[in-house]
Amino acid sequence: MVYKTALELAKYKSEPLRTDRFVKISEREDRSDLPEAACKNLLKNHWLQTWKGILLAKGMTEITLYPMLLHELQPKTIIEIGTFNGGSALWFADIMEMLGTETRIYSMDIDLSMVDEKVKHDPRIQFVQGDCNHIESTFTPELLSTLPHPWFLTEDAHINSVGILEYFHQNGFQKGDYVVIEDTNPLSWKIEMLDEEIWGEEYYENQEMLGQ
Ligand SMILES: C[S@@+](CC[C@H](N)C(=O)[O-])C[C@H]1O[C@@H](n2cnc3c(N)ncnc32)[C@H](O)[C@@H]1O
Repeated sequence: MVYKTALELAKYKSEPLRTDRFVKISEREDRSDLPEAACKNLLKNHWLQTWKGILLAKGMTEITLYPMLLHELQPKTIIEIGTFNGGSALWFADIMEMLGTETRIYSMDIDLSMVDEKVKHDPRIQFVQGDCNHIESTFTPELLSTLPHPWFLTEDAHINSVGILEYFHQNGFQKGDYVVIEDTNPLSWKIEMLDEEIWGEEYYENQEMLGQ
């Protein structure tokens, strides 16, 4: 029975990984199995993707991976840097609710005027306006000391990424917390930046976004 074999193989493939399930980013291989042409087509219209009618700027691979990762990690606090339209904060809130985990969600942006009215007052999400160049002003050490672990930090603004990691590292990160830095595949930038209608000078000049 082919399905039984698939089931057995799935178990076999995941169980031996348990002991070294999490690999340091410095020890990961920097490569993608998806060729540029495939990435291009997969990412082309990701700015049009929605969750409950609100823009959710995630690629198809993230849509698959995030729910599995969140199920595994069961974070008690999710911190999103870069809210945009609010679709992803809402998506995180819905995923955690479906998974039955009580999770506080904080979503930060320099400009919360872009957040859709339908999600602005969702009681599960705390939207906070702030500049991630001054992350300590929004996520003060006092606030961080009240947030239950494990934490799940997703960095999706790509401004001061290293400073943000340093700051959280010095102000509360513990074993079991997890960090996602989105859009680290250099191909995604090459593809997105082709869309000059969206990306102006500001983005072309942002060396951090270009991974430089
Ligand atoms: C890629 S979008 C976030 C997408 C969102 N996480 C999602 O998946 O739908 C990046 C966001 O970062 C915000 N941003 C840019 N510079 C920022 C800064 N200095 N501080 C905080 N947010 C910033 C932008 O306003 C924008 O909404």
